[in-house]
This record gives sequence, structure tokens and C-alpha cells, in this order.
Amino acid sequence: MKGIVLAGGSGTRLFPLTLVTSKQLLAVYNKPMVYYPLSVLMLAGIRDILIISTSSAVPVMRSLLGDGSKLGLNLSYAVQEEPRGIAEAFLIGAGHIGGDNSALILGDNLFHGAGFPESLRRSRESLDGCTLFGHPVPDPERYGIGEVDSEGMLVSIEEKPPRPRSNNAITGLYFYDNQVVDIARGLAPSPRGELEITDVNLEYLKQGRARLIGLGRDCTWLDCGTYDSLLAASQYVQGIEKHQDERVACLEEIALRMGFIDAEACYELGAGMRQSNYGRHLTEIAYALD
Ligand code: DAU
Repeated sequence: MKGIVLAGGSGTRLFPLTLVTSKQLLAVYNKPMVYYPLSVLMLAGIRDILIISTSSAVPVMRSLLGDGSKLGLNLSYAVQEEPRGIAEAFLIGAGHIGGDNSALILGDNLFHGAGFPESLRRSRESLDGCTLFGHPVPDPERYGIGEVDSEGMLVSIEEKPPRPRSNNAITGLYFYDNQVVDIARGLAPSPRGELEITDVNLEYLKQGRARLIGLGRDCTWLDCGTYDSLLAASQYVQGIEKHQDERVACLEEIALRMGFIDAEACYELGAGMRQSNYGRHLTEIAYALD
């Protein structure tokens, strides 16, 4: 399975924070936002990942993450000049996906929870059509909303409905079989001028091949698109890291646990940042986990 992190957009809801930098490079507690979606793909066991961002952000992302080899990944980059819709990721990423399945994650989405990595791996193995991930929210009119039957198959999807039929938001993580590229190629722009991810999902729904996995309340899901959700995400990560002796989206630790890199490589990456708690943590766990 190939991964895509969609980290473009103009971030206008966060102005002036995003006047000269990309939203996905802003700090969420102690690391850049893009670490969080990247960690999700890594936890799903995905190593071939395309990062799509704006022409000004791609060079910065590349200097931050390089070709991914330090993390045992194969990272590549592509530019989306204008936010022409989430589904455009499959047109930009068609060459990267090739004949494979794909996982798309939005660059401002944070997922964390005990059973989440296992749920990712199971969903990846049992993929047939598309698998979406739902999470209950208090403000469903802000999201794509899904209704499921008793088998977990989607029976309706609505984008930001004024009168939502459920509070089950469709999160910004999407698993698709290879048909997604053809479906995206066949889309017309919506009235707001975007290639809508909801239209892709509706096509799978029509085929009876769209599943929604409920992530439940023991999994936290946050998008970081507003001042308040950005701050809430930082406070959430601070709380976990300070009080639960656990790291969220610590890419080097995940790479070690997933067997993408060895203890020596993890130690060296930590030693290069040993002035920070983040770096020291890596030097401490590198051989302990081995
Ligand atoms: O966060 C989950 C929600 O994401 C879903 O529930 C909705 O169904 C889905 O449409 C989307 O809604 P948003 O209102 O959050 O979409 P937004 O246009 O804000 O884009 C989400 C992220 O994707 C944002 O960080 C910018 C990035 N993006 C978006 C578009 C449209 C791009 O990089 N390129 C784009 O063309």
C-alpha cells in the first residue's frame, strides 16, 4: 500500500499564523504538525509515502524530512499549486500509486489511541473498495458525516450537512483500492470548484464497497485547522507525553518499533538532537527497545 499526506491548502483560517509558513509546519506541542499524519501511515506499515504541499512549503518539508531514508522510509514530494480539492491528491499521486492500494491522510489530522495501530493494520489487510474511519463529534455540521448499516457498510455520506443525520464524522484518513485513481479522474469540480473526496466516497458507496470503521471514544481525533483545535492538539500531546510516559508521533521511535531502522540508527538520530527532551528520549529508548 502507498501513502499520501495531503499537506497543501492556504491555511486562511489560521491567519496571521500561516501568512508566511504552511499550516502543516506549525508546532503541535514539540514537533511539526506533519509528523502526526506521517506517524499514522508508518503505524499502518506504509513506507512509500508522497507528501503533497504548496510550492513554497515543499522545499521546507524536504529539508525537514529528506528522502525518508533516516526513518527507513521512501519519501517523495509533489506540489499542489492551488487547493483544488482533496481528491486531486489521486491525480497528482497517480504515478506514485501505480497499481497499488493507497492510504490518504490530511496533513492536519492527529489520531491517537491504544487500539488505533491494530485497527489500522486490520483495516489495511481486509480492504475491499474503500475504508473510512469515523469518530463521534459534538459539531457534526463541520464535517463529512456517515451513516452505517449493521455490518459497518456506509449507507449515506453527507458533506457538512446543516441537519446531520448522525454525529459520526468521517475523519481525514482514507484507505482505497486501486480504482480510486480512475474514480478521481472521472470527477467534475463541485459548485465550490473542488474535486471532492466525498464524491469519491459516494462512488464506492454506490458500489456497496464503502466501509466505515468507528474509532470510538478511546481513540482521540483532532484536526488542527482552527486556533482552538491547534491549541487543543498541543495540550493533548503535552498531557500524554508528560503524564503517561508515552510519546505521540515520535517518528524515530515508531520507525524503530516497526523495524524500519535499528537501535544504532535510532540512537544516532537522538544524539543529533540531544539538547532537547525529544532527542534524549530517543537515546534512552534506542537500545532498551531493541
Ligand atoms: O478533517 C476531516 C474533514 O476533512 C472531513 O470530515 C471532510 O469530509 C473533508 O471534506 C475535510 O473537510 P475540511 O473542511 O477540513 O477540508 P479542508 O478544505 O479544510 O481541507 C482539509 C485539509 O486538506 C487542510 O489541511 C488543507 C488540505 N487540503 C485541502 C484541499 C481542499 C489540501 O492540501 N489541498 C486541497 O485542495
